[in-house]
Amino acid sequence: MAISTGSILTACKKPDEASKGSGGGKGSASEVIKVGEFASLTGKEATFGQSSHKGTLLAIEELNAAGGVLGRKFDLITEDTQSKQGESASVVRKLISRDKVIAVLGEVASGRSLEAAPICQNAKVPMISPSSTNPKVTEVGDFVFRVCFIDPFQGTVMALFAKNTLKAKNVAVLTDAAAPYSVGLATFFKEKFVADGGKVSVEQKFSSGDKDFKAQLTAIKAANPDAIFAPCYYTEAGLITQQARQLGINLPIFGGDGWEAPELLQIGGKAMDGTFYSTHYSPEDKAEMVQTFVQKFKARWKGEVPDAMAALGYDSALVLADAIKRAGGTDGPKLRDALAATKDFVGITGKTTLDAKRNATKPAVIIEVKDGKFVYKETVNP
Ligand code: PHE
Repeated sequence: MAISTGSILTACKKPDEASKGSGGGKGSASEVIKVGEFASLTGKEATFGQSSHKGTLLAIEELNAAGGVLGRKFDLITEDTQSKQGESASVVRKLISRDKVIAVLGEVASGRSLEAAPICQNAKVPMISPSSTNPKVTEVGDFVFRVCFIDPFQGTVMALFAKNTLKAKNVAVLTDAAAPYSVGLATFFKEKFVADGGKVSVEQKFSSGDKDFKAQLTAIKAANPDAIFAPCYYTEAGLITQQARQLGINLPIFGGDGWEAPELLQIGGKAMDGTFYSTHYSPEDKAEMVQTFVQKFKARWKGEVPDAMAALGYDSALVLADAIKRAGGTDGPKLRDALAATKDFVGITGKTTLDAKRNATKPAVIIEVKDGKFVYKETVNP
């Protein structure tokens, strides 16, 4: 079901209504610019999609309030991937063939971006993932971009954190074998940690959606590591940490950006205290631009504090608008070239410069869970 600009989470337009107002991809000067978005608005990773969408929509609304670009306003057409395998491909196909969007924004999860990327590539419709960090996403082809850092960097950041801050010599790694994000981040972490003289004494696996991690945690306990790295999404991270504490495992547990969601604290409860994860931004950042964004976001979304996905969603829409301006239109290949030339674009998550592989290089932030709250710990520059 498609949601069109402004109607998020309250009403849904019928497909024929959603596509009104534009004749398609080429677009004349007065026509609305149709941008597609696919996000996990419901299901297991619902907060990913909702946060990302709220940031993206805020940017689109601001662009429209300022008159749009090239004298044209935007219509954001949003599709829910339901956090389900297979959905991303089908909704993105719809956005391109039915709605004739000129670009696609999404997804948060790497696995779902990987599903949709070949469809955008084949249709020559630029896709910008706000926050998928697995390197393979943009490797799909030259129409696929992202505005965030990638996991070789994130893995390095957390390997250094384990060594220098946690003083861990021996780490257990617990991977979600069904999520490309988790498999990739585990690999990059191990490479760096071992290259720096650390040891990965035990590796255990599970599958997205699992609820019982006692067998894996028992094996980890037996190997007697100094810390546990669990690069997975928040639902599993919460359950893993809670069950670890129940088994008397009181080691530091840490993860990557997939941990970022208010639900982490609801699912894991008190057990989350003393855990850490890396992400893309902190709302505690004192920079004026960040604080202005936090205020605007709170005003728009009932006092909600924007998380990293919201900030990256916002930045992804602005990067697209900037490229449309420079391309002088929305023609796919021209827009692709303009996106590829993005340089020093100032956004909430830092400056976006897209490299030859269509990836951005940005600082990472480390968050600690303290007394049931997310607390900014440090920023790690690339
Ligand atoms: N980086 C994660 C992935 O690639 C998604 C994510 C981004 C989750 C930002 C939370 C915050 O799957």
